[in-house]
Amino acid sequence: MRLSPPPSNVCLCFHVPLNKIVKFIRLEKPRVASQVSECYGAGTGCGWCIPFIEQIFEQMKRDPDANPQMTMTADEYRARRREYHKKINWQAMKDERPEDTTPEKEPQ
Ligand code: FES
Repeated sequence: MRLSPPPSNVCLCFHVPLNKIVKFIRLEKPRVASQVSECYGAGTGCGWCIPFIEQIFEQMKRDPDANPQMTMTADEYRARRREYHKKINWQAMKDERPEDTTPEKEPQ
């Protein structure tokens, strides 16, 4: 008995695999990529997967019979998402900084 590999998740926040997104696009024919969020909330979490969802959408818009594939391994995809999260958290901390935290200059 052969087992097929598990479907690769595009949206890691909501565990939405590539095959579900492809099927959603084929059946529901969304007009814009953002409507793919109606597929189990894909892309509505951290936002990491949005560019990938847009690529899948555009590829299938050009060719409805396309069979989009992930271009990186699941491990690489997760690792890049971790880096993205670190960057976002850093940016969020930076954005929460009080308006003026620069020390006043000593009068000369
Ligand atoms: S990985 Fe899809 S929203 Fe976070």
